[in-house]
Amino acid sequence: MAQQIGVKLKFIPVTDQGTLELADIHKLLTERAKILAFIHMSNVLGTINPVRKLAQMAHEVGAVVVVDGAQGAPHLPVDVQQLGCDFYAFSGHKMMGPTGVGVLWGKVELLDMMDPFLGGGEMIHEVWLGRSTYEEVPHKFEAGTPNIAQIIGLGAAVDYLRQLTMPAVAEHEVWLTRIAIEKLQQLDGLQILGTAPERGAAISFLLPDVHAHDLSTVLDSEGVAIRAGHHCAQPLMRKFDIPSTARASLYVYNLPEEIDILVSAIKKARKMFGHVS
Ligand SMILES: Cc1ncc(COP(=O)(O)O)c(C=O)c1O
Repeated sequence: MAQQIGVKLKFIPVTDQGTLELADIHKLLTERAKILAFIHMSNVLGTINPVRKLAQMAHEVGAVVVVDGAQGAPHLPVDVQQLGCDFYAFSGHKMMGPTGVGVLWGKVELLDMMDPFLGGGEMIHEVWLGRSTYEEVPHKFEAGTPNIAQIIGLGAAVDYLRQLTMPAVAEHEVWLTRIAIEKLQQLDGLQILGTAPERGAAISFLLPDVHAHDLSTVLDSEGVAIRAGHHCAQPLMRKFDIPSTARASLYVYNLPEEIDILVSAIKKARKMFGHVS
């Protein structure tokens, strides 16, 4: 839309802590703002954004609130009414479901106002030679034969998480994150990026002597899967003036013993790359 019709994109700055800088938000969020879009939880720094507060501020100026919940729904109890957002999106493969399937929740009155973005079977109500009418929400947006197998798979994942209960999932992760941060901080020179008080279990870190990609390769051979790179967040990497980070992310199936394995594997990688202590 910025390229086609000149919509202006403005960005909320990020503090060194890894939280959103909200002190001057009223300069960005004016009556001209149409959409406020942000993540529920950062996939890089783990920061949990204050969704309810941001939604209230956006609604005061009449903007629509779109939340990327790809890291929210899998890890936190989510009640869209309580959060007060207008749209909330998340992906199946980050919550033990299959790839290629996700959810976009939207307020029905907004969905009703929107045109279909795709044509196909099941979304049409009546077809005339010169015009068509569309089915009600959600069918209007579900053109063609759906991803049936993936949707059933995601449903099973949702059932499983609901059985565990999301407060219990979140509590387990808070516990693991505290242990992981404590143990990682004991490693000489290791720097954890992002120190937001409200945070989840995505932990990005830097080592002075081993590049993130080298680290992830060595860790992989030790049976530890981390992610290395810019995490689809290049502007954030530029803000911190770094090319990439190593990121460990913990979930409901992880155990404290696995954090010990991570720490030993990091030590082993550092030895390989000539770290002396
Ligand atoms: C916060 C966040 N948003 C969006 C995505 C992309 O999700 P998808 O691969 O389902 O498009 C990811 C991860 O890939 C993510 O962590």
